[in-house]
Amino acid sequence: MAHGATLEKMKAAASIIVAVIGIVIFYLKQASLPSTAPTPPGYPLPPDSIEWTSPPYPFTEWLIDTLKAPVINFGLSLPVISSFVNHRLQDRASTSGSNRPYNLSCKSDYTSWESLNDRSYFGRHLPPKEIPDLPPVDEVVKKLFPRKDGIQTMCPRSTLLFPTFAQHLIDSFINTKINAETGEFEWDKTDSKHEIGIGPLYGDEVEQTNQLREKSEAPGRRGRLKTQVLEGGEEWAPFLYNEDGTKKKEFSAIHDPDGMKTILGLVYSSDPTTKSSIEQSIFAFGGRRANLNPNIVAWNTLLLREHNRLAGEIEKSEPGWDDERVFQTARNVLIVMYCKVCVVCISVCLHLIMHNIC
Ligand code: HEM
Repeated sequence: MAHGATLEKMKAAASIIVAVIGIVIFYLKQASLPSTAPTPPGYPLPPDSIEWTSPPYPFTEWLIDTLKAPVINFGLSLPVISSFVNHRLQDRASTSGSNRPYNLSCKSDYTSWESLNDRSYFGRHLPPKEIPDLPPVDEVVKKLFPRKDGIQTMCPRSTLLFPTFAQHLIDSFINTKINAETGEFEWDKTDSKHEIGIGPLYGDEVEQTNQLREKSEAPGRRGRLKTQVLEGGEEWAPFLYNEDGTKKKEFSAIHDPDGMKTILGLVYSSDPTTKSSIEQSIFAFGGRRANLNPNIVAWNTLLLREHNRLAGEIEKSEPGWDDERVFQTARNVLIVMYCKVCVVCISVCLHLIMHNIC
């Protein structure tokens, strides 16, 4: 009896010691986190903005984060319990998303065989419904993007690269169809290829891709995309337009950048010199929005150079391959690298959202 009581006391003492050590580790970890992430020198904060400060890290969240994986792994190591845990995990994973195809699409207000199959229509999560009395846009924006005291919070943990990559990824597969004759959006339709094929660089159609390729069998040039060398000896995409503003014949299948003609016409109609110099700086990329801003051009250029670098490496290791095979292999490798960046980017995104960081 006395022996049992001593054992119980020892167990209680051990639990208290483990709990104290846990709390000490938590506080040490929290103390080691910087309370603010200082803006790097040389980058002053814009006016009316404040520096981001780490939100407090709740103890319960830390406890769950720390214990989740060991507890699951322990469960998976036990003979009988492991299959139960395994089933529960698999069930959760397989039922966490909706089945595809979605039963509703913009094809019709009801489900039909065509609405399930025709991927040129956008899918719907909710049935169509007239919504009267929508709140004013300003109010919605304020609710979605609240700013404490109207001041923006600068986040030194993220950079312009983040929205640039997001924009580039989205441009690969979210494409509302534009009516070729009227130039207007067809809001219920999409001409997306529904794949991550790096369309903004290579184009969505084979004809576009072919026009962007060098298509040379010369050793040292196989599988390459067309480029030009600009001042400073750097490799860039070729320009899309001739000096007189007409599109180069070799790029006849490449889209004019979205909205470019309208915007240039509106803003620079009385300034033909500036209009022409802007047109001259448009690059021949596959996507309609690939020239939208300097950062998206930089990102496309990085991918273009990486494609040509990969083609060089592949050609060196497989000297018997022709241009076609080197090109297709380099593209596939680049797509896999791109997907890897996507996964990292999405993980970072989830982390930032979960910890309310940005
Ligand atoms: C300076 C930055 C940006 C500029 C100038 C820009 C410009 C445009 C333009 C001109 C369009 C075509 C639609 C239209 O003509 O009305 C568009 C569409 C779109 N943009 Fe951006 N954008 C920028 C950044 C971004 C970013 C960061 C994202 C996402 C993270 C994004 C996501 C989208 C989406 C989803 C569409 C609609 C695509 C479609 O349905 O076809 N954009 N943008």
